[in-house]
Amino acid sequence: MGKDVIIACDFSSKDEVIDFLGKFKNEKLFLKIGMELFYAEGPEIVRDIKRMGHKIFLDLKLHDIPNTVKKAMAVLSNLDVDMCNVHAAGAGGMMQAALEGLTRPDGTRPLLIAVTQLTSTSEEVMRQELWIDKPIDETVMHYAKNARNAGLDGVVCSPLEAGKVHEVCGEKFLTITPGVRFADGDVGDQKRVTTPEKAKELGSDYIVVGRPITQAEDPVAAYRRCVEEFVE
Ligand code: C5P
Repeated sequence: MGKDVIIACDFSSKDEVIDFLGKFKNEKLFLKIGMELFYAEGPEIVRDIKRMGHKIFLDLKLHDIPNTVKKAMAVLSNLDVDMCNVHAAGAGGMMQAALEGLTRPDGTRPLLIAVTQLTSTSEEVMRQELWIDKPIDETVMHYAKNARNAGLDGVVCSPLEAGKVHEVCGEKFLTITPGVRFADGDVGDQKRVTTPEKAKELGSDYIVVGRPITQAEDPVAAYRRCVEEFVE
């Protein structure tokens, strides 16, 4: 599996995203579309961007009963996305149902990735509100193992966790890692950040980069810098 840079298209309208993509001329990109853009514009935004030849990671983090997730995943698979995700907290049955729903009649399917614990959930919140008494890093690795055992392709995690995830779940199990910043760039609201170069060294398979590219004065140059540091 080749390494790639996924651009987080955290825009709230089609106009903004089309304007942004216009800067890249004919380059084919891997783009993350999240809830904001998907709920604002509906599935048509996915079709539009696919028609432009880009790959899509549809970041909707499904979490419901297995039957509902299976049927929803069948719809997303028909949209021809390349990667989508679920919460590992939905457990093995839900993750397996998601895979079944995603698998097309010809046997192909988008990659399916699990979210372990959201980075916004602290160990204290886990203990006091969710009644999970284990340390957060152990919980993350346990959820990653559950995802691998259900047949999923990988997890979203910090680049700092990528090595450990590979150790626990195997080298082929994918690590999709946000929290990436250039050494000379703004950290913003991200807490534990690494550069694209460091993420590569740590074993990330895909980096997800938003504002360092979307808010850059020259987004195309910023994207190329990510590719140079992470892929080439
Ligand atoms: O702008 P920035 O590079 O921080 O964007 C990172 C992207 O990755 C955002 O879309 C954010 O929601 C997502 N993400 C994250 N941390 C996680 C999971 C997803 O930053 N743990």
